[in-house]
Amino acid sequence: MKVFHAQSQLSQYLQPLKQALQTIGFVPTMGALHNGHLSLLQQALSENDVAVVSIFVNPTQFNNAEDLAKYPRTLDRDVALLETLSDKIIVYAPSVDDIYEGNTVAKSFDYDGLDNEMEGSNRPGHFNGVGTIVKKLFEIVQPNNAYFGEKDFQQLQIIRKMVEKNKMNINVIGCPIFREANGLAMSSRNERLSAQAKEKAAVIYKTLHTAKSLFIEKDIVQAEQFVKETFANEADFDLEYFVIADEVSLKTATQKTAHTKYRAFIVVHVEGIRLIDNIALN
Ligand code: PAF
Repeated sequence: MKVFHAQSQLSQYLQPLKQALQTIGFVPTMGALHNGHLSLLQQALSENDVAVVSIFVNPTQFNNAEDLAKYPRTLDRDVALLETLSDKIIVYAPSVDDIYEGNTVAKSFDYDGLDNEMEGSNRPGHFNGVGTIVKKLFEIVQPNNAYFGEKDFQQLQIIRKMVEKNKMNINVIGCPIFREANGLAMSSRNERLSAQAKEKAAVIYKTLHTAKSLFIEKDIVQAEQFVKETFANEADFDLEYFVIADEVSLKTATQKTAHTKYRAFIVVHVEGIRLIDNIALN
């Protein structure tokens, strides 16, 4: 398995592959890899000649210093896990300096307002950090296809917008959420949960499921009320937000309109850890 820490070396390695018109599939990650990441890589391997994964905890997308400090960093384990999938995967695990060259700040992006909703309003500056790192990584790797999980659905739509606005010739591919047996969406943050909290966190997906039925059979207000009441009765869980929104504009919806695709988005806190999930409603 090839592991590069310097962008110059990665570029040098990829250059002849590009000249030979080999297609590159790219999976950007922050490491602490789990089966959800592996499924993205499997898709990248099956749809491209070469698969590249980046492992980089990006400081400019964290608006909470403690969250950044506590984010799991497990490079050796990640590389060993990738090896179980294929020894052909190319790993790019840069240092902060290799990426930011002494200027660790986020650039400002215009996402046509997609960043004013949900994660954008609750985590100021987050999507400028995401745009900054993803654009840099795209410029370094120059992939044909890039794969992102739908767990961070707003991020996926924002990256699509960034690619469109910057006229980057990259297909951004959204991949279904990978879940634990109890329905908990796989996330690197789950590693910080106690076994008991992990088990109890099944309530998140279960609640989304019932909210979906209420949305279909009744209306948005009833779905919202159900979610609020459920978490009001869950002593260990704090509901940060539950929003039903138009899947394309990400604008909060208060009533159903024909020919619009909706999604329900949720963030809850348990044991001080922020968990995010979403579900397609129609
Ligand atoms: O989804 C993530 O893990 C990160 O936001 C990403 C896309 C790798 C950028 O740091």
